[in-house]
Amino acid sequence: MQKMEKSGGITILDFGSQYTQLIARRIRELEVYSEILPWNASPEKILAGKPNGLILSGGPRSTTGADAPRLDRSLIEGEIPVLGICYGMQLIAHTLGGEVKKGRLGEYGRTKVVFKDGNGEKILRGVPASIDVWMSHWDEVSRLPKGASAFGASESGALAAYSMDVGRITALQFHPEVDTTEYGREMLSNFLFDVCGCEPNWKLGDWVKRSLDSIASTISETDRVICGISGGVDSTVAAVLVSKVAGGRLDCIFVDHGFMRKNESKQVVEAYKRLNLRVHHVNAAERFLSAVKGLTNPEEKRKTIGELFVRVFEEEARQCGGAKWLLQGTIYPDVIESGFVGGDVIKSHHNVGGLPEDMEIELLEPIRELFKDEVRRIGTLLGIPEEMLKRHPFPGPGLAIRCLGNLERERIDILREADAIFIEEIKSAGLYDDIWQAFCVLLPVRSVGVAGDVRTYGETIILRAVSSRDAMTAESVRLPWDLIDKTAKRICQEVPQIGRVSMDVTGKPPATIEWE
Ligand code: XMP
Repeated sequence: MQKMEKSGGITILDFGSQYTQLIARRIRELEVYSEILPWNASPEKILAGKPNGLILSGGPRSTTGADAPRLDRSLIEGEIPVLGICYGMQLIAHTLGGEVKKGRLGEYGRTKVVFKDGNGEKILRGVPASIDVWMSHWDEVSRLPKGASAFGASESGALAAYSMDVGRITALQFHPEVDTTEYGREMLSNFLFDVCGCEPNWKLGDWVKRSLDSIASTISETDRVICGISGGVDSTVAAVLVSKVAGGRLDCIFVDHGFMRKNESKQVVEAYKRLNLRVHHVNAAERFLSAVKGLTNPEEKRKTIGELFVRVFEEEARQCGGAKWLLQGTIYPDVIESGFVGGDVIKSHHNVGGLPEDMEIELLEPIRELFKDEVRRIGTLLGIPEEMLKRHPFPGPGLAIRCLGNLERERIDILREADAIFIEEIKSAGLYDDIWQAFCVLLPVRSVGVAGDVRTYGETIILRAVSSRDAMTAESVRLPWDLIDKTAKRICQEVPQIGRVSMDVTGKPPATIEWE
């Protein structure tokens, strides 16, 4: 959505890393304008916006492979400051006559790096001589190009950092944009302000202005738009944003697939009316239930639900005077996990990987590059009430991907009741706003119990509560024991089909937040 402007800032060349958008986000946090271009954009295009600096992202390939993304030498031989990260670092070496080889072991995850700052590297200002960083590479630079000097190595002895041309070119094997890298923010800040001379003059409000311009130039003045809303933060922000351009040509469609949380449908429809958005409430619970009948494979469920969503939207679109655009609140983690940046498909988010190929309607995804916390801040700028923005994220396929095993109506009802009790207890403990996401999962496992001297063989509920900054990683929340205990007792009493309550204490990674 960001458009080229004669405003300097940073251009990020994307070599296919799942962290490319994270680099852009870190730059936004430092209030500097940035834009991402594909690695094969022409040098004229790359330099047209007169960027203050270039960042070369990581990427999944090997510089020596026949299909490896390349770099136009003229870009790094000019005057512009360049920061190469991971693949970007190896590519600079490869392009300028150094050598890149497959390392003996590869380095993945948290790794110690020691710097030797003999050259007064600007990027190291305020950074200790030894830090933990996030590595994710197999290849390594085995011979530096002429004129380059190393200033960092990892525990295993692999080259971790080098620079050239008095720090104009800086190359890091690790990822400063990932939270795990200590002082990553400082290094990026040093690059932006000390090396590139950027000004911290870019605000989130600028994103809104730019985005509105881009929407206005994408949809014509007569185009109608329909927006699939769930009542969640992402679709609400997308709808309010586009309504500023499309006005009465926007229709919001709330598809109740029958996998919503307790009382959710009513609350969503009322909240949208207060936002002055036109909402069509489509009750499609029967259709969805029969479509997923017998499905237990997570990807099959997601794809079936995703496809039916679009079919229902298309039907509604025809009734809304032939909408040309389907507006979705897709955000960046949805795109990454659906494997759309060259990585593995972790799970097909219904609004990305679950879309059918033969769609009759075009997609409009204005917040596709953003992370949830940025979306929330934009929501505040757009005047959306805090209680809507603070709602815990809820996946598009809803309770269907939290109900493992047979997706029968009765099991969904059980899960819905248990979930409502858990959330009620979290709210009354005053903890709702401190938690990224809390919910229940119903397992396809029964166990033996005893109630009033009678043998029971009940269902199993899992409680899950996680903290996160942007859903890319998450940690299990240490809930007070009294809260867990009370919740478990209430669930077993008030939902008699449930015989056992357990707790998921796994982080992401290695797990994901949702179970499917
Ligand atoms: P995972 O489970 O992949 O989820 O760690 C990361 C975040 O994304 C939410 N999620 C979804 N959101 N459609 C969505 O709009 C989906 O299909 C979907 N699947 C997961 C999840 O709840 C968490 O906040």
